Amino acid sequence: MLFLKPTFLLLGSLFFSATLGHDETFEQLVAREKHVEAARRDLESCAHKLRARDDMNSRKMQKREAWINEFVEKRGITRRSAPFTKRQTSSAAVSCILAPEVTIGPYYLDGMPIRVDNREGEPGVEMLLEIEFVNTKTCTVIPNLYIDAWHANATGVYSGFQVEGTLGETQLRGLQPTDSDGIAHITTIFPGWYQGRAVHTHILAHYGGTVSGTKYVGGSRPHIGQIFYEQSLISSVGTVSPYTTNRNQLTTNTADGIFNQQNTGYDAIANTELIGSTIADGVIATISVGISI
Ligand SMILES: *[C@@H]1O[C@H](CO)[C@@H](O)[C@H](O)[C@H]1NC(C)=O
Repeated sequence: MLFLKPTFLLLGSLFFSATLGHDETFEQLVAREKHVEAARRDLESCAHKLRARDDMNSRKMQKREAWINEFVEKRGITRRSAPFTKRQTSSAAVSCILAPEVTIGPYYLDGMPIRVDNREGEPGVEMLLEIEFVNTKTCTVIPNLYIDAWHANATGVYSGFQVEGTLGETQLRGLQPTDSDGIAHITTIFPGWYQGRAVHTHILAHYGGTVSGTKYVGGSRPHIGQIFYEQSLISSVGTVSPYTTNRNQLTTNTADGIFNQQNTGYDAIANTELIGSTIADGVIATISVGISI
């Protein structure tokens, strides 16, 4: 059985997110710092509760196991038993990242479908992405959030944009609700890289809206953030087709400004393990995300 240690990402609001970087005013900077500090304190006081949920016998772990086993059976692969990598993290009780104002990026598309599998046949290393959402104000998980996830394909191209030559396409985008345990299970591929950014997955949490057919409409101001991956895993993925045909220059995590912003004092890197014996068999990535709502 795989045991993945908890990682926490804290999402901020779109309000902050839209105004980042060079355009950030002094007031916004102060507001962000306050938000970060408050959320950090909240999360630290949640440490015991949060750890308990990562117990091997917890419902969260059982659901993860069931999900991985279903994948393994469907693909006819043999489950790997040894961990792929051991993350180097601080000894702090709760490892988490705070990203109250990280940019939404130029490639967000509203109105994507609610679905369990975002691939639409896009080739790449299959990735099971488990994201757990915790309310940092109450230390409780958040059910019924709708998690929008989007990222570039194996060769670093986003769907749905004219500049990318993909207008009207929707692959590697989609929404999944969090269940009663605050968990969203997303099936996708490991993201590819493009010039100027480290490998990342965008996530945006919608709430307070309604489901209409396969779409999520309305709702409150969403919270957004980005998930990063270990450099060693990115290197392994780079040895596999079709990532081998990606000619874009790779930006490492530490050379990425947004990574540095997301990762300050917290942990924006997902925990990842190989599912089978090789990278080509797929990857499971897990992360816990703190939101204060
Ligand atoms: C990534 O998307 C672009 C645009 O749709 C496509 O031309 C390219 O083949 C895709 N990459 C892979 C590895 O399929």
